[in-house]
Amino acid sequence: MKPAILVVRAIFPEVLERLSVHFEVESNQDDVIFSPSELAARLKGKAGALATASARINTELLQQLPDLKMVASMAVGYDNIDLAACTAHGVKASNTPEVLNETTADFGWALLMATARRVTEAEHWLRGGQWNKWRYDYFLGPDVHGSTLGIIGMGRIGQAIARRSLGFNMKVIYHNRSRLSTEQELHANHAQYASKEELLGKADHVILVLPYSAASHHTIGEAELKLMKPTATLVNLARGGIVDDVALIAALREKRIAAAGLDVFENEPKFHSDFLTLKNVVLTPHIASASEATRRAMANRAADNLIAGLSGQNPPDWLNP
Ligand code: GLV
Repeated sequence: MKPAILVVRAIFPEVLERLSVHFEVESNQDDVIFSPSELAARLKGKAGALATASARINTELLQQLPDLKMVASMAVGYDNIDLAACTAHGVKASNTPEVLNETTADFGWALLMATARRVTEAEHWLRGGQWNKWRYDYFLGPDVHGSTLGIIGMGRIGQAIARRSLGFNMKVIYHNRSRLSTEQELHANHAQYASKEELLGKADHVILVLPYSAASHHTIGEAELKLMKPTATLVNLARGGIVDDVALIAALREKRIAAAGLDVFENEPKFHSDFLTLKNVVLTPHIASASEATRRAMANRAADNLIAGLSGQNPPDWLNP
């Protein structure tokens, strides 16, 4: 008999078909968002789950699921998964690194450019029927080319963002838990290591690409925003909670920084409604990895992990070996 799995959220049909060769698949193509108790009920008796970053995998859930052997998440960030709890319950966990690096770096640039050059604000103005003349000072923003880019979190995605800055003739400074090798710094457009405080004081554009954890909670709060230049922009591509959204709203409202571009929010998909009252913020719904090819690659990579993990092999992206 094939092992039973739950695909927690809607997914590409061809990936469901692939999974059905190996497993008895319960799917959720209507994309119902399960409460924790509904998720537990659906997972009862299942050997595996293909989940996303929105599913909380913790002790409370796992202790109800003695048959569960593996959770494969379709995301690179895994702050939703309590790895210690998984290990304690004999559950393998995996994520989907690498396949989204370049697509996510592209989107970091999309947000940076849109934020600095006020693309969405100008479009809303045009759509609102306000365009009746050209003016020298309409929608002035800071330049991107020739400026200093500050990257906080210099993992694979941060380095891919840095590489792209070469074409914009930018200086790159970065802050990371550990310093890169000289060779990695060279490939990342000669990125220079800086303390967080130094980076915030010097960068014209700051991009956040670090993983969320208790240690990175509110990496950018009121004190950090005060260190930034009044002309600077801030992009959060990483996770809600890395930025203190209330502090950011105050800084944007008082023009203590020029603008922000946000793909992630505290408590998303709910987010602080005051963001909607501000013109100097670009808001997108957690889509940094959303290219057709990359989302397919992520889904297939999660499937690869589940297939390997439930057939007694090592999942390629095993997080708790
Ligand atoms: C998306 O946020 C991911 O972690 O892949």
